[in-house]
Amino acid sequence: MQEAQGAYVWDLDGDRYIDYVMAWGPLVLGHGDPRVLSAVSEVAKKMQVVGTGHALEYRAAEAVLEAVPHGERLLWSNTGTEAVQVALRLARAVTGRRRVLKFAKSYHGWHDTVYAGMSEDDCDRPASPGGPGQSTSVLDDLVVARFNDVQLAERLLSESVERDIAAVLVDPVMSNAGVEAPSPQFLSTLRTLCDRHGVVLIFDEVIAGFRIARGGAAEKYGVLPDLSVFGKAMAGGFTQSAVVGRAELVDQVTSGVVHAGTFNANPIALAAVEATMRVLTDPAVYALLEQTSSQFEALVGGALGSSPDFGRFNRVGSLLQYVPAGGATGLHGTGGLWTAILEGMLRQGFLFMPSGKVFISTAHTTADVEATAEALDQLLRKL
Ligand SMILES: Cc1ncc(COP(=O)(O)O)c(C=O)c1O
Repeated sequence: MQEAQGAYVWDLDGDRYIDYVMAWGPLVLGHGDPRVLSAVSEVAKKMQVVGTGHALEYRAAEAVLEAVPHGERLLWSNTGTEAVQVALRLARAVTGRRRVLKFAKSYHGWHDTVYAGMSEDDCDRPASPGGPGQSTSVLDDLVVARFNDVQLAERLLSESVERDIAAVLVDPVMSNAGVEAPSPQFLSTLRTLCDRHGVVLIFDEVIAGFRIARGGAAEKYGVLPDLSVFGKAMAGGFTQSAVVGRAELVDQVTSGVVHAGTFNANPIALAAVEATMRVLTDPAVYALLEQTSSQFEALVGGALGSSPDFGRFNRVGSLLQYVPAGGATGLHGTGGLWTAILEGMLRQGFLFMPSGKVFISTAHTTADVEATAEALDQLLRKL
C-alpha cells in the first residue's frame, strides 16, 4: 500500500480498498485521525526520545488509568509481545513461582515463552513450540488449559503450588482464535481460583483493550485481573504498549525487578496515546462502533446466511471473526471458503485478513458496510 486514510487504503496502482485489516487492530479511529496526528506532530517538533522523565509519561498514563477499572499503576513498553513478558516477570517475582497457565490456541506475542501450546492437543500435556527455531527449554514453563473449560482450570489450579504456577495468562475474548466470548462463569471462576491459590491473574487485552469497551474486557465482563496488558488501540496507530495493574505488583520495579527499554516511554508514541485516549472518553465512539459493527454482522453476515455451508461471523463489539461451517479458524489463515472470499473481495476493492478477523473503526460508514455486503452477495452467487 502507498497511502491510508480513514477506512481506506490505496495500493501502488492507486486503487482504493475498504480496509477491514486496520493494521491488525490498532486503528479504532481509522487511519490518520487528525486529532492523533496533530498531537504527534506538535510533540515531534519539540523532542523525539529523551531517556529521562518527561511530563507526557504521566499525562498519558493518567489518560489510560482513568479508563481501566483496576488501574493503580502503569509501566510503558513498546509492543504487546514485550509487555506480556513484563507482566509475567512481575507475577514470577511476587509469587516466587515459575510456570504460567495459558489457554490452547491463544496468542500472546511471538516470544518463545508464550508462542507455544497453540493446539488443544497440548491441554494438560507438555506444550509444543509454535514454530521452528524456538527454544524448547522454556516449554516446561507453560501449563496449557482449554478456554471456557472451567473444570480443567479448577483441576490444574488446585495444584498451583505443586505445579509451580505463578500466573494465569488469558485473552478474555480469544481474539486470535475464533473471537470466542467467555462463558458467564469462566472469568469469574479464574478470579476466584487465582485468589484461592495465590496466582496472579493477567488479562492480555492487547486486542480487546479500548476496543470492545473503553475499559476493555475487565469493564465489559466485570472481572478485575491483577495485571492487564494493553497495546494496539491505545496509541491510535503508533507503537506503544503498557502493563497496568495493582500497585503491589507493579511497584516491584522500584525494588529490583528489571523493566528496561530505550524507547519505552518515547514522547511521540505517548502523544498518540494521550490524544487517542482523550477521544475514547466520548461514549459516542463506542455507540458508533457498536452500530457499524452490528450492521456489518447483520448485512455482511447476512450475505453468508444464504447457505449453511458459507459459515458465519462471531462478534464481540467491533471485533469480528469469520468462522467456517463446521470448521476452525486459523491464526495464519483460515483457508477453505474464506480463501476464495478473501481473493474475490480483494479484486473488488475490499481488504480482509487471511485469518478472517475483521476490525471495524469509527471511520467505516454504513455505505462502506452496505457496499461490502453487496459485493460479497454477488461473489457468493458465483462461487
Ligand atoms: C492478544 C495479543 N497479545 C499480544 C500480541 C502481541 O502484540 P505485538 O504484535 O504488538 O507484539 C498480540 C498481537 O496481535 C495479540 O493479539
